[in-house]
Amino acid sequence: MSDREHTFDRDYWDEHYAGPGVESHRREPNPYVVRETADLTPGAALDAGCGEGVEATWLAAQGWDVTGADIASEVLRRARGRTAPEAAGRVRWVEADLSTWEPAVALDLVTTFYAHPTIPQLDFYDRLAGWVAPGGTLLVVGHGQGHAGGHGHGHGQGHGHGHGSGEGDGPPPEATVTAAAVAARFDPELWEVVTAEDTSRVYVFEGGEKVLDDVVVRATRRASSA
Ligand SMILES: C[S@@+](CC[C@H](N)C(=O)[O-])C[C@H]1O[C@@H](n2cnc3c(N)ncnc32)[C@H](O)[C@@H]1O
Repeated sequence: MSDREHTFDRDYWDEHYAGPGVESHRREPNPYVVRETADLTPGAALDAGCGEGVEATWLAAQGWDVTGADIASEVLRRARGRTAPEAAGRVRWVEADLSTWEPAVALDLVTTFYAHPTIPQLDFYDRLAGWVAPGGTLLVVGHGQGHAGGHGHGHGQGHGHGHGSGEGDGPPPEATVTAAAVAARFDPELWEVVTAEDTSRVYVFEGGEKVLDDVVVRATRRASSA
């Protein structure tokens, strides 16, 4: 199967995480979750496509009551195994296809870091936005377009989940967005866009370092939008 023919369905992610050398040794949370949640009051949170759970666990340690949801059972097994004692009581792991699953209650914070399912990327973010309670926050961290064009097989590698550095590690184009395109999805009457930036950072890993192009969009659902 050519790289362009696969879809990012459950089989893809299960195979991906079963592959050799995919397990990440990353422990530090994504810098944007630290920056963008610093002024928020902890409540109920969801990390959509949580992977090995670094961000979900970090949020739980900050006092959030977190659900880490992912489609791939193997990666959730790793997430469970890594949950620090200080976070254990405040994080639960849910195996779910977020293109169909829905949370039972509206949430104070919905985050996603580089998750890209089979549905179009912006439609996925629309779904997540629909799960945010009035007054709550959506934080999208996605792939920017600077180094797009990879094959989608470097998922442990191109965005802080693993540590390769070879060519073709960039995200597949269909998984990339721009901050403007994400921000444009928010009706200003219902949302305040707090952050919308196309940015890049140097990611340092055991085998070297690479530049990651990121999109960071944070929006607050107006309390009056209920
Ligand atoms: C590139 S990884 C990012 C993982 C983690 N957020 C991180 O930053 O390390 C994308 C994650 O999204 C998950 N994912 C993809 N499609 C999904 C879906 N439809 N429902 C739930 N999770 C999904 C994958 O299994 C994978 O763990």
